[in-house]
Amino acid sequence: MQIKKITCIGAGYVGGPTMSVIAQKNPNVEVTVVDLNEARIAAWNDADLSKLPVYEPGLDAVVGEARGRNLFFSTDVDKAIDEADMIFISVNTPTKTYGKGKGQAADLKYIELCARQIAAVAKSDKIVVEKSTLPVRTAEALKSILDNTGNGVNFHILSNPEFLAEGTAVTDLHNPDRVLIGGEDAEAIEALVQVYEAWVPRERILTTNLWSSELSKLVANAFLAQRVSSINSISELCEVTGANVDEVSRAIGHDSRIGAKFLKASVGFGGSCFQKDILNLVYIARSYNLTAVANYWEQVIILNDHQKVRFAENIIKTLYNTVNGKNIAFLGWAFKKDTNDTRESAAIYVADHLLDEEANVIVYDPKVPAEQIYRDLVYLGTRSPEENRRLVKVVNDPYEALAGAHAAAVLTEWDEFKGYDWAKIKETMKRPSFVFDGRKLLNRAQLEELGFVYYAIGE
Ligand code: UDX
Ligand code: ADP
Repeated sequence: MQIKKITCIGAGYVGGPTMSVIAQKNPNVEVTVVDLNEARIAAWNDADLSKLPVYEPGLDAVVGEARGRNLFFSTDVDKAIDEADMIFISVNTPTKTYGKGKGQAADLKYIELCARQIAAVAKSDKIVVEKSTLPVRTAEALKSILDNTGNGVNFHILSNPEFLAEGTAVTDLHNPDRVLIGGEDAEAIEALVQVYEAWVPRERILTTNLWSSELSKLVANAFLAQRVSSINSISELCEVTGANVDEVSRAIGHDSRIGAKFLKASVGFGGSCFQKDILNLVYIARSYNLTAVANYWEQVIILNDHQKVRFAENIIKTLYNTVNGKNIAFLGWAFKKDTNDTRESAAIYVADHLLDEEANVIVYDPKVPAEQIYRDLVYLGTRSPEENRRLVKVVNDPYEALAGAHAAAVLTEWDEFKGYDWAKIKETMKRPSFVFDGRKLLNRAQLEELGFVYYAIGE
């Protein structure tokens, strides 16, 4: 079975970059990415490549190479389904905000809508690939909908979870540690293997059964998040004992059994995956009455929430137990550097805590637009949109954010923050001038020399 036409439903952070690279590396396969969101598709088609809706280093070049050749972005979902041999489902699966499993289970309504649409439109056999992160055994539900509502054509379901990390999506896609394909039909699996083999060495393409593939995605993210929570728990211990968490990370990371990656203490992990996937794992474990397993993984989230609150409370305590009316300049809002994604960003929760205390928060982020920041705050539902706008100001110039501030808080590890003229900043800030570094990004010796009071996580 040779794939000639691929369609991907969902042009977000996963679908957009992944399909761009598949198209780049398979010039003979026509790849169409569709989305209901017209503005998003228009942005993917923008002649100005700096306007792509997803910011990822190197993505503009990949899109520039393939778009119009064999990569297309469209809102015509039915046509793209009809013509494809293989359909990737890459729509969002947010945590449920209502009903059973509220706050824990994944909301599968978008997936189900996709399945029903595929079933209604398809007039020929299709391979359907789950790309979105899904609870284990979603493939079963997908198959049931496709087979029961379809026009009598055959559907083969594959699970092909995405392991790219935002900010490094293009390099991760170009050079993946592994590609995972789960499925039951050997021919369908082989068809997808061939797509990846265009650039990924065969030994890095792992094939498993469907359920192992689905579960592996959740487990990989749970293990990664667990490492961050583990080192963050130690950061608190370091602060009271005089140890330095970076030194501890380095010391333990040299043990090849532990490894050096993902041991950077921070204000807390964010992003669309870690929290959602662990909550999902916890929900599945609970639904099978595996209470000890569920409680174990839930601690990773509890510790992460604690880390965010702890960071905010340290700011309040250090500023003489009140931030009412004080200006706190936020450097960074994205959940990590080199992305414009803010989902579950620690900055949102730290801001919320400070706003409860009536602080004035002035935000500067190199890639996140003001409307997104206000949307994130509205989504929390803590206070009215007017109240958010009264207390939170978003600026396009970091020096403006910091002028007159009682404290600076580093929430995202953007490289540019290191290169600022901190001597000039010191002149314009209130005294004493506090810096709270939630990413351990800045240079303590330099800042203390300039007269800042510098606090970093885990020191
Ligand atoms: C993650 C997984 O890494 C990726 O494989 C999966 O496909 C999607 O979820 P992502 O959320 O994009 O990727 O970014 P990641 O680099 O994993 O960072 C997640 C969060 O953890 C960020 O907020 C980051 O700042 C934080 N983090 C990461 C730390 O605080 N310390 C670390 O050492 C590493
Ligand atoms: P992810 O990080 O998983 O890629 P995003 O929210 O960035 O998540 O992207 C998911 C995209 O899927 C959104 O652009 C959304 O509009 C799109 N989408 C959701 N449901 C459908 C659907 N039924 N048909 C087409 N697109 C959809």
